[in-house]
Amino acid sequence: PATKLRLSPSSSPASKSPVSLLYPQTSQSHTRPVPFQQPSSLLTFSYTDSRELQFNDSAMRYYVEPPPRAELGYGYDRWVRRPDAKGRLDGLLEAFSKIRSKDGNSQEVGVLSWRGVMTKILTAPYEERDAWELNVMLRDGTLYFEEHLTDARLQEKNEMAPHQRIQTYYGYAFESWCTASDPHSPPGWGGDVDTNVQWCSVVKTKLGSTRMVIGGEVDCVRDKYDGRNDSLVELKTSMNIRGPQDEARFEKKLLKFYFQSFLLGVPEIIVGFRTPKGQLTALQSFKTMQIPRMVRGKPGAWDPHTCLEWGEQFLSWLRVIMSGSDHPSSVWRVKFAPCVGVEGMLLDEEGVREVEAGEDRVGFLPLWYWHELEN
Ligand code: A3P
Ligand code: MG
Ligand code: MG
Repeated sequence: PATKLRLSPSSSPASKSPVSLLYPQTSQSHTRPVPFQQPSSLLTFSYTDSRELQFNDSAMRYYVEPPPRAELGYGYDRWVRRPDAKGRLDGLLEAFSKIRSKDGNSQEVGVLSWRGVMTKILTAPYEERDAWELNVMLRDGTLYFEEHLTDARLQEKNEMAPHQRIQTYYGYAFESWCTASDPHSPPGWGGDVDTNVQWCSVVKTKLGSTRMVIGGEVDCVRDKYDGRNDSLVELKTSMNIRGPQDEARFEKKLLKFYFQSFLLGVPEIIVGFRTPKGQLTALQSFKTMQIPRMVRGKPGAWDPHTCLEWGEQFLSWLRVIMSGSDHPSSVWRVKFAPCVGVEGMLLDEEGVREVEAGEDRVGFLPLWYWHELEN
């Protein structure tokens, strides 16, 4: 499907957006592939069970082979579930601030974002189902992204239907069956699931000429972690493949698996295949960099160059229109709808108040961070 990138005066009468239109296609020629620099690790941090951010690897886990036919519904009643929250950048900004105080301000960063948001942006040319919205700010040449989740959408996410809730749990239970706090642990349950606890990596990379700092959760490491990302492992679950239709569906899913890991430089993805009722049936390890070659020419084929090309267009489009606004504290809203495309608008005062939600912020950036940039 063609992805339409559209900027227009939105339905909101207060919007002061100029008009601009751009229509990238999925069938791009790639005469000049957009270069993407291998991400390199800047720093790692952990969230504890009380959601405290610590600059250490206390939440890091080691990969261990799961027991055969493990039950992914195990421990469901004991799941400590972190409620879905607004997609704030606070943790990443804390890490970025620490990085800047160590390394100085030598290189200009063009984009600062959580990995999940960058995955959404880059995979948009192939997205046929899920819409998303972002809040964006531009300050001193850096684009800041956060996912925009309305209160209604958050409530919807937090009141997940029981069936969907358990399916989500299967993914976390797989992580527990596959990880331990010691690399030499025997296979088994790695401990009850607490989704407050996360180990995160912050990397720097470059898309075209845009330097980016990206943060995201990493599931585990193989054998050891020496500060580089070549031992990192992403864990995924997926339904058993029973025929060509399932296979095509899985190959489509690989697009998201691929970019999620690619953006943090995670070289290996281990997929646990399962029955609909949550019994593990098979394991398959994928080398992230080989995934595009595996799907090439298949029915659900996708091409990562299309995504990178689109990503570069999207970023420069955003930068050009946002540079036209005179206030660094301006907040922009980008809306993506499958088959419709992307639309951007400048938020009015009311919109900004909603984003700030009565907190100590300038737009969605925390006040402490804003002040830090002034020094
Ligand atoms: P799967 O990975 O097996 O799907 P991640 O894979 O990113 O490490 O996330 C771990 C688990 O969190 C996922 O398991 C899935 O169950 C849940 N999860 C992640 N993103 C989600 C989303 N957008 N919606 C619902 N569940 C999600
Ligand atoms: Mg994860
Ligand atoms: Mg995972």
